[in-house]
Amino acid sequence: MVESNERLEKARALFDNIPRISLGFFPTPLHRLNNISERYQAELWIKRDDLTGPSIFGGNKTRKLEYLLGKAKQEGKDYVITYGATQSNHAMQTAIACRKVGLKAILYLVAVVPSGEGRPLGNLLLDRVMDAEIHIEPCPSGDAGEAMEKARSAASGRMQELEAEGFSCYEIPTGGANATGSLGYVQALMELNEQIRHQPDLPGFDYIYHATGSGGTLAGILAGKELLREDFELIPVDVGLVKPGYKEKAAALAEEALGLLGMEAAIEADSFRIEDRFTGPGYEIPSKESSSALKELALEESILVGPVYSAKAFAALLGHLQSGEIERNKRVLFWHTGGASELFAEAQIVGDDIIS
Ligand SMILES: Cc1ncc(COP(=O)(O)O)c(C=O)c1O
Repeated sequence: MVESNERLEKARALFDNIPRISLGFFPTPLHRLNNISERYQAELWIKRDDLTGPSIFGGNKTRKLEYLLGKAKQEGKDYVITYGATQSNHAMQTAIACRKVGLKAILYLVAVVPSGEGRPLGNLLLDRVMDAEIHIEPCPSGDAGEAMEKARSAASGRMQELEAEGFSCYEIPTGGANATGSLGYVQALMELNEQIRHQPDLPGFDYIYHATGSGGTLAGILAGKELLREDFELIPVDVGLVKPGYKEKAAALAEEALGLLGMEAAIEADSFRIEDRFTGPGYEIPSKESSSALKELALEESILVGPVYSAKAFAALLGHLQSGEIERNKRVLFWHTGGASELFAEAQIVGDDIIS
């Protein structure tokens, strides 16, 4: 215990010179899922990163943005340019966070699912409420990669234009997935470690489940796990964005994040596995399992997840409980990464199975 206290203190000190700007409300709540635990005779907890703030539409990006926008402000930038799908939670949270700290958000969004009949819905509606500058790249061929390339090239032109006018721009990759953004989840793991100390009946978790997309959250948790020498099994759940080389990239990003803290460590891509049996037909397409998991959490615990990300992670957790892949005496954490605003997106994204 003393040793792990010291480790946490040392980890905290590594952040002393890292720029950060306050955007959210931390620590986010950590609580037991009483009804679902009883239902499955299991020990299930939840970390409420849906409640990170600064608006009611919180989520995992607020943690990353505290570091990303901290750096942008330190460098005296005027504009923040980022990317995503039209229903991107990351883009929406960036638009909201930028307003709070006096930066102007420019969003390059790929219409993976064509946006709703001329009227913005869900996250795109919120982007509009926040007066973000929005550029939508159509994706008629269904090749999101190709559309994203076009969006990047348009963004580069826009950046040159702004720079010629005397403004400076800070570019954030899709999902905020770079080493600076991942620091948010190193910090999050430290926050969780501290919370567990204050729960006398909770010695720690055997498993942590979360939805993985751009891989930045995963990289941050891996880096934090290494820093604090924790031994839970991490189960990142693919929501339809995992491609060959994904694990290696996440491990390299975790090493890079540790590098920003002055630490050198080798993170093995084989030290974790990605759960891809609950992805369903693809990104932004719900499956029977994800819709049913969304409903179960809503009806049993009054907690809402989003159909695109967190419902798929929760579906994996429930699936593993049902199949016996997780033994009943294990302590399991579901890291809720947000995204409930996806419930107000296009019908194709939400699906029909959650409406009775
Ligand atoms: C609600 C939600 N959960 C999980 C993720 C995945 O996080 P990451 O992109 O860091 O892998 C995202 C990413 O956009 C998200 O919006």
